[in-house]
Amino acid sequence: MDQAKTLKRIVKKEMMNSSREGGTLPRVIAVTSGKGGVGKTNVVVNLAFALTRLDKHVLVFDADVGLGNVDIMLGIAPKFNLHHILRREKEISEVIVNGPGGIKILPAASGIQELVELSTEQRLVLSEEFDSLSEEFDILLLDTGAGISSNVTYFCTAAQDIIVVALPEPTSITDAYALMKVLSQNHAIKDFRLLVNAVKNEGEGKEVFRQLSVVADRFLPNISIDYLGHILRDENVAKAIRHQRAVLDAYPHSKASQCFMSLSKKICDLPYVHPGGSPQFLWRAILGGER
Ligand SMILES: Nc1ncnc2c1ncn2[C@@H]1O[C@H](COP(=O)(O)OP(=O)(O)O)[C@@H](O)[C@H]1O
Ligand SMILES: [Mg+2]
Repeated sequence: MDQAKTLKRIVKKEMMNSSREGGTLPRVIAVTSGKGGVGKTNVVVNLAFALTRLDKHVLVFDADVGLGNVDIMLGIAPKFNLHHILRREKEISEVIVNGPGGIKILPAASGIQELVELSTEQRLVLSEEFDSLSEEFDILLLDTGAGISSNVTYFCTAAQDIIVVALPEPTSITDAYALMKVLSQNHAIKDFRLLVNAVKNEGEGKEVFRQLSVVADRFLPNISIDYLGHILRDENVAKAIRHQRAVLDAYPHSKASQCFMSLSKKICDLPYVHPGGSPQFLWRAILGGER
């Protein structure tokens, strides 16, 4: 390639790097749970909203196969999804839609099923498309869906941070434990962050963490669970969802909204473990399911 052109590219990339925290690679955060209905999508949507307020460029990737509903929760109707990128009908920038408050959403629900079975050529198409995004975003938030389907584990292996959402109920705690067990034993994932949703107070969240830690220390000594915090149970969440809005948008002063703001600040303060390598490395990890 033309030397001047190459130099120009390097300069452009370096300037972007120096003006942005964390380099060119976005931090990939997967939000997951043992079972559905624990508030994952709501967490993803509001976390994205809160992080955007803190001046982060956030892309929400709706990777929940069966029940992808980020768009429904926000009252948007995307025309295209991952399918169109794979068929080379659209570029990724045409598929990404604007959500409220400046968040960006990559609707993938109906396109993602095949992701685990992509051909080499399709992977290449996607990784090329994704490469063009790496410089634009600070944080990539994945709504993975629940359970231990291949899609869930697939996306968790590509993330630097895995947020396991649980409710303060025995069944949900058991499900969260089972998920971490499978992810650690079958997929070598060792580090988890626990978020306890819909608690009546701070103590209830900490108690869930304590219970999980006690069992994990005993039976899964290789994993580490960090306590990320709690979201209070708040009827404004359901009200906002009925209006197809983020609770932070519709009821910014509600208890839940305050929790989402503190959660997002906490996430910004977490040490950023740079995965190393190039943006291509990141996307290949996502598309190839390798760490
Ligand atoms: N903090 C909360 N307080 C009260 N209700 C909540 C809270 N978080 C979630 N919910 C309720 O739980 C339901 C399921 O949330 P959702 O995000 O769709 O779960 P998931 O994505 O895990 O299936 C929502 O419709 C909402 O009414
Ligand atoms: Mg969901």
